[in-house]
Amino acid sequence: MAMIAYKCPRYRVTVVDINPRRIAEWNSDHLPIYEPGLEEIVKAARGRNLFFSTEVEKGIKESEIIFVSVNTPTKTFGAGAGMAADLQYWDKTARQIRKYSNSNKIIVEKSTLPVKTAEAMKRILTSEDNGIRFDVLSNPEFLAEGTAIRDLENPDRVLIGSSQTPSGLKARDVLVEIYANWVSRERIIISNIWSSELSKLVANAFLAQRISSINAISALCEKAEADITEVAYAVGMDRRIGNKFLNASVGFGGSCFKKDILNLVYLCRHYDLKEVADYWEAVVRINDYQKERFMLNMLNVMFNTLANKRICLFGFAFKADTGDTRESPANFVAKRLVEEKARVVITDPKALKNAAEDLEGVGGEISYVEDPYEASAGCSAIAVMTEWEIYAGLDFERIYRSMAKPAFIFDGRNILDHEKLYGIGFNVFPIGKPGLTHF
Ligand code: UGA
Repeated sequence: MAMIAYKCPRYRVTVVDINPRRIAEWNSDHLPIYEPGLEEIVKAARGRNLFFSTEVEKGIKESEIIFVSVNTPTKTFGAGAGMAADLQYWDKTARQIRKYSNSNKIIVEKSTLPVKTAEAMKRILTSEDNGIRFDVLSNPEFLAEGTAIRDLENPDRVLIGSSQTPSGLKARDVLVEIYANWVSRERIIISNIWSSELSKLVANAFLAQRISSINAISALCEKAEADITEVAYAVGMDRRIGNKFLNASVGFGGSCFKKDILNLVYLCRHYDLKEVADYWEAVVRINDYQKERFMLNMLNVMFNTLANKRICLFGFAFKADTGDTRESPANFVAKRLVEEKARVVITDPKALKNAAEDLEGVGGEISYVEDPYEASAGCSAIAVMTEWEIYAGLDFERIYRSMAKPAFIFDGRNILDHEKLYGIGFNVFPIGKPGLTHF
C-alpha cells in the first residue's frame, strides 16, 4: 500500500489494523519490519496520501476500494489442522466490511488464500440485502521479503482475477488503472478469479519445488563425490531450466512456501486427487529431511556428541536482508541442538529479537550475541544458517584462533570460501559437496 501511495499521489491510502502498537510503529521512525528501501517510501508518502490508523470502521466507510491483507496461517485445530488455511480473520474482516459499508465497494483479496475464497467472501458480503454492491477481485502478491521494494517497483507481473460479469470486469479495470501508474500494461495480466487464486499457490509451489529438487540432489552429491554447485550450474545453463532458485541450502523457510504448498495439498485432497496431493507434499517432506540431515551430520562428524559443546549459529532469519524468522531452518536446528544438550549461541544482524521470542521457553542454554566474533569465541562449531553477505567477509583467521579445537564449520548456505577455511585449520562441511577434514 505504501508503494501505491508513493506512486500515485492522487489516491488517498489508509492502512488500518486492530493492533494499536503496530499502527503506532508505522507512524513512528521505527517501522515494525526491516525491508531495504521501505523506510524511504513510507516517509515520502506518509502524512501526504498515506495514513496508518486503528479506525477500521472509518477506513471501511470512506474507501471505495478495500485491499484485504489479513493473515491466513495454517490451521492449528480441527478439520485440516496442520494443512488447511485458517480463515477466521478473513471471515471476520468480510463481516466487518459488510457491517460498516454504506456505499458500493471493490474488495481486493491480497492475502494468499485457498481457491474459491473470493466466492465465500462474496457470499458473506451479499448475505444481507442492504442495496450495496460488492465486487471481489483477486490480486495476489508476488513480492519476496528482502527485495520487496524492488519487486513492487518492477514486478515480473501483476495478476488480477475477476468475475466475468460486467460489474466484475469494470472493477478489474479500476484496479488495472491503479497499477498502470507505474507498471507497463503488458505486465498487468488478467484472468478469471479462480485462476488468479490458484496461480499464487502454484507459483510458490514451483519455486519451493526447485529448492527441494536441488536439495534432494545435494544429498546424492555428498555420497557420489559430485559438487552441487557445479551440478546446479551445468543444469541451470539450460535455458528451459534457468539458473534461478537452484542454490542448495539447509532448507527453505519463510511464512509462505510451506503454508502455501500444504494449502495446495489440502485442496487436492479435498477434490480426492490423492496422487497430486502426495506429489506436492513431497516438496515439504524433502525440506524437512534436509533440515534434519544437516543437524544429524553435525552430530555425526562431531564425534556423535554435542553435549556441552558451544555451537554458534550464523544467522537466524529465514533468508538474508530480513529480520523475519518464521519457519526459519535456524529455528529447527537450534531446537534440535538444545535437545542434544549443546550450548547454542545465536548471532544475526537483524533477527535476534525475533529469535529470542521464537525460542522462549525452549530451555537449554541459548545466548544471543550481535557481534559474530564475540559469538563464535570459545565455540566448537559454526553453522551458517542465513546467507547474510557479511559472513563471507569475516576474518576467519581471527575466528579460528578464538574457537575450541578441533573447530568445525557447517555452511548451510554454501556462501563461504571452503578451501580457504580448510587451509586455516577448520574442518569444513558444505551442502552437497564432500567435507574437508584434517583427520
Ligand atoms: C516467496 C516467493 O519467492 C515470493 O514470490 C512470494 O510472493 C512470497 O513467497 C509470498 O508468498 O509472499 P519469500 O518467502 O519472501 O518469497 O522468500 P524467497 O526468496 O522465496 O525464499 C524462501 C526460502 O527459500 C528462503 O529460506 C531462502 O533462503 C530459500 N532459498 C531460496 C533457497 O534455499 N535456495 C534458493 O535457491 C532460493
